[in-house]
Amino acid sequence: MTSKTGTTHAHAERAKVEADPNRVIVFDTTLRDGEQSPGCSMNLEEKLSVATQLEAMGVDVIEAGFPIASNGDFEAVREIAKTVKTATVAGLSRASRKDIDRAWEALKPAASPRIHTFISTSPLHMKHKLQMEPEDVVQAIADSVGHARNLCDNVEWSPEDATRTDHDFLCRVVETAIRAGAGTINIADTVGYTIPGEFADLIALLRNRVPNIDEAILSVHCHNDLGLAVANSLAAVQAGARQVECTVNGIGERAGNCAMEEVVMALRTRQDSMPYGTGVDSTQITRASRLVSGITGFAVQPNKAIVGANAFAHESGIHQDGMLKNAQTYEIMTPESVGLTKSNLVMGKHSGRHAFKTKLKELGIDLSDNQLMDVFGRFKDLADHKKDVYDEDILALVDDAAVRH
Ligand code: KIV
Ligand code: ZN
Repeated sequence: MTSKTGTTHAHAERAKVEADPNRVIVFDTTLRDGEQSPGCSMNLEEKLSVATQLEAMGVDVIEAGFPIASNGDFEAVREIAKTVKTATVAGLSRASRKDIDRAWEALKPAASPRIHTFISTSPLHMKHKLQMEPEDVVQAIADSVGHARNLCDNVEWSPEDATRTDHDFLCRVVETAIRAGAGTINIADTVGYTIPGEFADLIALLRNRVPNIDEAILSVHCHNDLGLAVANSLAAVQAGARQVECTVNGIGERAGNCAMEEVVMALRTRQDSMPYGTGVDSTQITRASRLVSGITGFAVQPNKAIVGANAFAHESGIHQDGMLKNAQTYEIMTPESVGLTKSNLVMGKHSGRHAFKTKLKELGIDLSDNQLMDVFGRFKDLADHKKDVYDEDILALVDDAAVRH
């Protein structure tokens, strides 16, 4: 159980973050929505190590799981609630008292617990999935949020499939949830359907039309079915959203969720044009990515932004030459800023003489101009036939040249 001092500290931190209009609250759902992606399930120990990493890197809210889903999920949320000291710990529940009670049971030991409850609001979902009339959905929202708020002072409510919800109805349900006590309203693009301009307009519409909107923090939860989850989240932030929901490496249902590393680095890299920032220590990003990828077995694609193996790799001669003169020519962020030690100048058929000479220097080899010309020519021949040219290959070429001279 968390001490009274721990709880007070966590609450004070939360209040400070919420009071800063330019501070984007990072809500990580790797352990809930991320884990829901096929093949990504994690055991208790694995979840605890991810939660510990998320806390260490400064994530504001960790969604630890969906306690009613299974005993394992319940246990994981409870253990994470007991362990995490500085971040808020959230647990998901549907709009039913039984779900909410179970979530609260798991979250109770947390220094800063949050109940996250949701229900679908689009015509399609209400008719076919819930088989409920809109009026009954409104009633369920008032009841579930009110019930959650009687248990916990920090309640988040999400209209599932919000981006395919009728606008008048969306305004009405958001107003209802805030009146019932929700402190965070999370607009979910559940099926990754929206596009940036449209999503920004939706956030602006809610801010203009919902009379009590200023009593809650507006959050967004974007899926990546069109590859737009990060772009949509950024557009929403620019339109006034204050919390972004995301996952490490963008794992999640179908094409995944908004990738935490991308949204954090976009906000950091574009501080010149946007005033927003997060509390995430970006130098922990690579470590988090590798941890989640190692645990889930989900490989990160090489060209994945920020954390892919090629994100700081350069093979073209022109780029390598530019990089050696000034790294800003071809990099908009430093490798150190995401926790890597340096960029990678890959030796291949596109590499130029400048990079080759630098590589030789790194390997402790000093050649005369004639020798360099000879070895460089042979390196190019080799690179034409071999996809990856390793340091050992280059050393062999140099040895070979030395024997011949
Ligand atoms: O995608 C979604 O709608 C969700 C909600 C539970 C927020 O994950
Ligand atoms: Zn989701």
